[in-house]
Amino acid sequence: MDNAKLVISEARQWDRLMALAEIGAIVGDGVNRQALTALDRQARRLVIGWAAEIGASVSVDAAANLWFRVEGSDPAAAPVLTGSHMDTQPKGGRFDGIYGVIAGLEAIAALHDAGIVTRRPIEVVAWTNEEGCRFGIGCTGSMSWAGVHPTDFWDDRRDLAGVGYGKALAEHLAAEADIPRRALGGVPHAYIEAHIEQGPLLEAAGVDVGVVTGIQGSRWFTVTVQGESAHAGTSPVRGRKDALQDAMRAISALSGAMDDPADVLRFTVGHMVVLPNASNSVADHVTFSVDLRHPDGAFLTARGDAITGIVDAAMTTCTASVHEGFNAQPVVFAASVVDAIEAAAEAASVSHVRLASGAFHDAQFVSGVAPSGMIFVPSHKGISHNPAEFSSSAQLAAGTQVLANALLALAS
Ligand code: GLV
Ligand code: MN
Ligand code: MN
Repeated sequence: MDNAKLVISEARQWDRLMALAEIGAIVGDGVNRQALTALDRQARRLVIGWAAEIGASVSVDAAANLWFRVEGSDPAAAPVLTGSHMDTQPKGGRFDGIYGVIAGLEAIAALHDAGIVTRRPIEVVAWTNEEGCRFGIGCTGSMSWAGVHPTDFWDDRRDLAGVGYGKALAEHLAAEADIPRRALGGVPHAYIEAHIEQGPLLEAAGVDVGVVTGIQGSRWFTVTVQGESAHAGTSPVRGRKDALQDAMRAISALSGAMDDPADVLRFTVGHMVVLPNASNSVADHVTFSVDLRHPDGAFLTARGDAITGIVDAAMTTCTASVHEGFNAQPVVFAASVVDAIEAAAEAASVSHVRLASGAFHDAQFVSGVAPSGMIFVPSHKGISHNPAEFSSSAQLAAGTQVLANALLALAS
């Protein structure tokens, strides 16, 4: 196939990204569009309209993943898949996730505009609930699709308002009942996810796109510390079971144990709930999150498995429990897809470098089912999960051109 015929529209892609950034817009150019909310559905309807313009069919599966498909000349051939997610962090930016969905749409629009029908079908997917901020668990759409867990596995995970994942998913599917339902799962020929880098390497190197070789592992834990509430003025400090004091000891002990002078192991406590959360009551209940990441699976397993012992040893008067909610093992992407992306960048005269991903992505789970890869575009100053997240229209377009060329090659 002749890549030269494939012309993506930089302006169309940018305008679509900016239109989507209005849905859930927050101050400072940011976006707060949580998974399985009315805003999520509003954004999906906009994208469905754009897909209809080029005759792509739309469907939704039981995990609420949203699918667009253009047929190939061989209907029996396994499809080539691309996509990413549409939900954002509470203080998210305009590009994390949504870029990969809009880039996929732009790639199939370019094929449509050029009158090219590939042999294999091409599908664009918007995976449900990648970010993990609403229910404390990410990538539920891609995990369900890949058969890692059934869709009801997280039914009891609740958001801050007490709404369970199962209820939110059911409500969402009811709101999309007019969209044809497709079976959950599948075996695509290959998957490519375009995404912003979310780190500083590409910009520092002055390179247009990153050809992603794999993703480091992530483990998420929730630590619960149980104490006893008491009056701040009348209860002697010595006799208290202060859950916040013991939680702070635990966090401090974990920070020490997880400190890595080489800064490869990444340890983060980013979420904490203190109850009753009153200045004049001793806290009886504290939960905090632990996000742990490392590229080596055995190392990550060992460090993660040590958390319970470290927390228990830090307790003075309270009791603690540790629950693991998310485990994404490190993955190495398939050489066939990595090579196809590299060749596509080369053919488009887009400068490129191989690199690994520090963030997790839906591709981590898709790669268990189909040969997968990712394309990164530079993030200004590496800023992400922040309203200031920025990649220029030209940088995003270069990534999409590489995506379109790679999809065409893999679907031919
Ligand atoms: C994805 O958003 C991550 O936290 O890596
Ligand atoms: Mn993302
Ligand atoms: Mn993210």
